[in-house]
Amino acid sequence: MTTSDTIHDTVREHYAERIKNNASCCGPSDCCSTESSLYPADLLATLPEGETAVSYGCGDPITLASLQPGQTVLDLGSGAGLDCFFAAKKVGETGKVIGVDMTPEMVARARSSAKRLNLDNVEFRQGYLEDLPVDSNSVDVIISNCVINLSPDKSKVFGEAFRVLKPGGKLAVSDIVTDGPLPEAIKKSLSAWAGCVAGAVEAEDYTGMMKEVGFTDISITPVFFDKETVDSAIADMGDAIDLKTIARDDVYKAVYSAKIIARKP
Ligand SMILES: C[S@@+](CC[C@H](N)C(=O)[O-])C[C@H]1O[C@@H](n2cnc3c(N)ncnc32)[C@H](O)[C@@H]1O
Repeated sequence: MTTSDTIHDTVREHYAERIKNNASCCGPSDCCSTESSLYPADLLATLPEGETAVSYGCGDPITLASLQPGQTVLDLGSGAGLDCFFAAKKVGETGKVIGVDMTPEMVARARSSAKRLNLDNVEFRQGYLEDLPVDSNSVDVIISNCVINLSPDKSKVFGEAFRVLKPGGKLAVSDIVTDGPLPEAIKKSLSAWAGCVAGAVEAEDYTGMMKEVGFTDISITPVFFDKETVDSAIADMGDAIDLKTIARDDVYKAVYSAKIIARKP
């Protein structure tokens, strides 16, 4: 039986391995190509050349969040830290950025990059999204890039996000969701979960969980993947799945990246 602990362990091992090998990409996203396909050139230009290479994301939560100087920002599943570094530039010295991630290797990499970049307004904390090491009502904006789909308890993650946001605070997330069910073979695969596919839920269920914990003004905008990207994500799942059993068309139709915005009243 697959438990929350098993999922956390599998996902953590997957991303520890990735950062050790410096491999990019979480699954059905174009983050494998280059970071420049995710972010606009003027945002990329805020960091030194060569510092933007390691991204495991599937979108651009920074542009989505419209960050302002002086804000406190929390990044859920900060990985190697790229979105936190962009956010740190946006909020400036009067602002603050906190990245939370459960994988020690990711936190270590993010901390050493922040030091190299001389960013004093960024801090990385090791912890779970389902039990955030962050004070209640303390954050102006929550961002996240291709992470919530990986959680075995998304309702708990949204509950925690709601708790730590200040009243009036904003959630701006890029994540993988689905339209319709995924093939059973994929849903059962732990490697597909770690690759940001099997854990993805239907867009309606995703926003339903957000509403349930109290979020309002929820909007969800799809960004569809091309077939090549989905094929490479399925191939990436390796021998854990009998690839012949998967109806590719079902996956092409079902899985997409979405821009999600919501507010705490
Ligand atoms: C696909 S990567 C995305 C990293 C980063 N947001 C980016 O765009 O490069 C997912 C990250 O989320 C972390 N993660 C996944 N599930 C988590 C959870 N339940 N609690 C804390 N971190 C988690 C993983 O350790 C990994 O670093």
